[in-house]
Amino acid sequence: MAALPSDLPTRRHLSLSYDELAKPDHLSPAERRVWEAARAATDHSYAPYSHFHVGAALLLDDDTIVLGTNQENAAYPSGLCAERTALFGLAGNRPTPPPRIVGMSVAGRPATGGFRPALPCGACRQVMLEYELRQGQPIWLLLPSEDGTILRFERLAHLLPFHFSADSLPPRA
Ligand code: THU
Repeated sequence: MAALPSDLPTRRHLSLSYDELAKPDHLSPAERRVWEAARAATDHSYAPYSHFHVGAALLLDDDTIVLGTNQENAAYPSGLCAERTALFGLAGNRPTPPPRIVGMSVAGRPATGGFRPALPCGACRQVMLEYELRQGQPIWLLLPSEDGTILRFERLAHLLPFHFSADSLPPRA
């Protein structure tokens, strides 16, 4: 006997869009500022173990830029990624609520020189998303890709579909 339609798995499709820009000349002036700031920040990274220097730059709605860099440690898991040092540094040092984050960028540079793609790790995506949800306004993101183009995402949520959030937690008693 043929299965009823309701017994069949339902296949759903996700679509996500991002822009691919051939070179930094195609960025807006604000985007360009954040892109360059993330690259310059790599100079302040502490990466004596991986030798991979990562910089993150956040553009705030008061037009200031906040930087973060990866900070490693001899006890390896004790280090922290650039994205999280930037976000935690901002949230931990500004009045509540802190200025809104408009956009951000990440850059990675091996000790041997040149820039390499540095896509945020899963833990950073989770943290980045929470700040976007918390402020209720999208944060754009610029990332360098494998083929040398720039990836531009409209919002951080696009990097982490099926995420865990405060809504996943049981209601407090
Ligand atoms: N790293 C970041 O700073 N951000 C990421 O999203 C990925 C990885 C750092 C962590 C570590 O210091 C080095 O890059 C190599 O994994």
